[in-house]
Amino acid sequence: MSSSPVIELIREKLDIADVVREYVPALKKAGRNYKAPCPFHNEKTPSFTVSPEKQIFYCFGCNEGGDIFKFVMKIEGLTFPEAARKLALKAGVEYGDDRSHAMTEADKERLELKKLLTAAAAFYHKTLFSPAGEKARLYLGERRLSKATVERFELGWAPAGGSALIEEMKAHGWSCDLALKAGLVSEREGDRVTDTFRGRIMFPIRNQTGDTVAFGGRVLDPEAQPKYLNSPETVLFSKRRTLYGIHEALPQIRKSGRLLLLEGYMDVIGAHQHGVDWAVAPLGTALTSEHAGLIGRYAKDTVVMFDGDRAGITASVRAAEVFMDAGLYVRLADLGCTLDPDEFLNEYGREEFEKKMASAADPLEFRMNLFFKDRTTPPTSQEKAQAIAAMLETVAKQPDEIMKSEWVKALASRFGVEEASVHKELKKAGASGPRPAAPRAKAPAPDMPAIERGFIQLLLRDPALFEKAADLKPGDFASPLARKLFSAIGAMPAEARASASTSLAEQFPEDATLIMELAVSDPAGESDLTQNAAGAVRRIKHSAMERYLKELKSSGAMTPEQLREYGRLMSELKASDKDI
Ligand code: UTP
Ligand code: MN
Repeated sequence: MSSSPVIELIREKLDIADVVREYVPALKKAGRNYKAPCPFHNEKTPSFTVSPEKQIFYCFGCNEGGDIFKFVMKIEGLTFPEAARKLALKAGVEYGDDRSHAMTEADKERLELKKLLTAAAAFYHKTLFSPAGEKARLYLGERRLSKATVERFELGWAPAGGSALIEEMKAHGWSCDLALKAGLVSEREGDRVTDTFRGRIMFPIRNQTGDTVAFGGRVLDPEAQPKYLNSPETVLFSKRRTLYGIHEALPQIRKSGRLLLLEGYMDVIGAHQHGVDWAVAPLGTALTSEHAGLIGRYAKDTVVMFDGDRAGITASVRAAEVFMDAGLYVRLADLGCTLDPDEFLNEYGREEFEKKMASAADPLEFRMNLFFKDRTTPPTSQEKAQAIAAMLETVAKQPDEIMKSEWVKALASRFGVEEASVHKELKKAGASGPRPAAPRAKAPAPDMPAIERGFIQLLLRDPALFEKAADLKPGDFASPLARKLFSAIGAMPAEARASASTSLAEQFPEDATLIMELAVSDPAGESDLTQNAAGAVRRIKHSAMERYLKELKSSGAMTPEQLREYGRLMSELKASDKDI
């Protein structure tokens, strides 16, 4: 990570806790630190920690950690220079030209890829309004999309020939290699490449920040396969983490706390055109825990509304379970017909649509409604038992115990069975059901004696204590990592020690996780440690001497000098025993 006067100025002017709070409003003071549920993985108990003293964050659950720049890069999916520019603006610091700042090769490539994808989106969009895009324009008209909507989502047309984009990119000096990495062209037989998207209506896929990171392309010919083609996964694009429409919907989601999850591109676009501008959709994958994590960061009230067909209904029940696994509250809406949301909006308008959203049910109620919906005769005992067993899977996912017992009650009363027997079945289901996920891998336990660990923590918290350690040599530490960190802190100029944890993590990336963990956690137990670093120094020295004596002894016959040294150390050790 680069450091420059501008970067240092940004660090000085901004407080990491303020910046984090903008993305993680749940951040709460906990002792010297702040805590919240981690924005980078799903969890119910907060292990995400921000240290205002050290200006770093660290999550004990997923081991993500770093400084203010790393946080913004991670949460917004930005390169270092992009994050720096953003923070500079916030800090009121002049950032200047990207070239004046150090950038890694990977960062440079990401920037180039984004520029190329932006240029490609502009090309497809321009083509849509050229004579070549006539059929596509007609089709979008049939789908009742206005020109303003087409422009807002920058929809485009990829000509069928297979080389239109390549030619255009070449003419503007882009390399074929970069276009391959962006997923815009694909290798055919031999070394011939063709456009990935041919004869398709193009939907640029944007990340939260609004950068185009991929495309979806829809065929015009109803027979052609696949109906929708997405860009391959690239360094900028992961389907599992991307929601179509998130950039456009974010302002409204932030404002109202509500989010509408739909199934496809056209549904999102249709919803926005009708003013329902808090709608997003996954990209043809089932909803993932990454999606749920992202949604949980912004929305308090999420309504899932998938297509009214079998597949849509199954997918929405699944999605609800993914949300519950993430500890999030969702409701499921049913349009009550086989129309897709965009068709429903065109047919009945926003008001009717809003009514459907308002009557969205919790996941259990949704399943019960479906079961009883078109029934003319009451279910047999066997049908009841089967249906209850299936619905208990949803009940078991409910993270809130009070809600869970309410659900058991609702299930029993709707099916007209004893509550106690539903409880029994739930217990059985829980016992045989999937085990809760194994705890996430912890940072590897440092092979570091408690006293050394505590002392390094003290040093990271208050580097001025280094002066108290004049007696200590790196070799006095039993743990190689403690030795390494102690030497590195010693080698730092005194004024650099204030941000020791960040620079140590950069210096030793393989130990960064551990360093972050040491930096934000409190020294365990040892209360006298905090009061008396000098005591810790003595105890480390003492152990070092013990170790050394043991080595001497076990080395077999000692030379006369070694014997003398042994005697001297023994008495020194005795003397120091009194201090400990
Ligand atoms: P649908 O088949 O329901 O399409 O797939 P749709 O959104 O209603 O599209 P229109 O109205 O026919 O134009 C829902 C979503 O599943 C993904 C797309 O994200 C699509 O929006 N999908 C579908 C694919 O990724 N590939 C496919 O071949 C089909
Ligand atoms: Mn549709």
